[in-house]
Amino acid sequence: MDGNGRWAQQRGLERVDGHAEGARAVRDAVETAARIGVGYLTLYAFSNANWARPRAEVEALMRLLVDFARRERSELRAQGIRVNVIGQLEELPTSTRHAVEELIAYTADGDRMTLSLALSYGGRADIVEAARALAVRARAGLVLPEEIDESSLHREMSTGSLPDVDLLIRTGGETRLSDFLLFEAAYAELVFLPLMWPDFRPATLLEAITAYGRKERRFGKTSAQVQLAEGRSFDPVDTGLS
Ligand code: FPP
Repeated sequence: MDGNGRWAQQRGLERVDGHAEGARAVRDAVETAARIGVGYLTLYAFSNANWARPRAEVEALMRLLVDFARRERSELRAQGIRVNVIGQLEELPTSTRHAVEELIAYTADGDRMTLSLALSYGGRADIVEAARALAVRARAGLVLPEEIDESSLHREMSTGSLPDVDLLIRTGGETRLSDFLLFEAAYAELVFLPLMWPDFRPATLLEAITAYGRKERRFGKTSAQVQLAEGRSFDPVDTGLS
């Protein structure tokens, strides 16, 4: 959700005003995603590198999270949206942590969509934590090193209960991942949009998902193999069988 600061500065506002407007865009994006049948939505709300921002900005973001948790909880529950956190929730200030924990508990029965908030999150740090947890299990004799595979590593990550990423959208014009879901986005379709996050609208999400639907996801296979597996006709020239 990049571009809040620039959105505000372009309007002569404070950066924190951009974050507040960004929180409004979050509300619409979440509602739209649930309505159109997205099962899992993960929002990069605060990275572990964002602690290095000016203190006032960090505090404003923590307050916005509290506001969001309190203001939206009834609506989220009514819509069947379950809130989850990835990252180091314990590093957040107590008031923010409590508000988010309450939101998680309050929405726990939601079965329509899982909304994961990435808070004090870093993709590399998550992989390191998982490796460390597996090392501890190996030292205790609970797992053999040769048994460790992609699934067992993923189970130890804070995204362990989430599926792989299908579509990753970054606003704000930068074309980098900035440590977001590095392991989970291995085969994700990446969409980089020039617009700033507060300008993200329900129609923006619908367009990105429509474009995603036109992509052929091959996961290392050939196009012909994918089409055969899906029971579609395919071009024999492409298979080398003609
Ligand atoms: C990056 O834009 C955005 C953030 C670091 C914070 C994102 C937070 C919100 C959208 C609001 C709060 C979240 C929730 C879930 C209620 P930036 O500040 O780096 O923008 P810039 O690149 O233009 O400076």
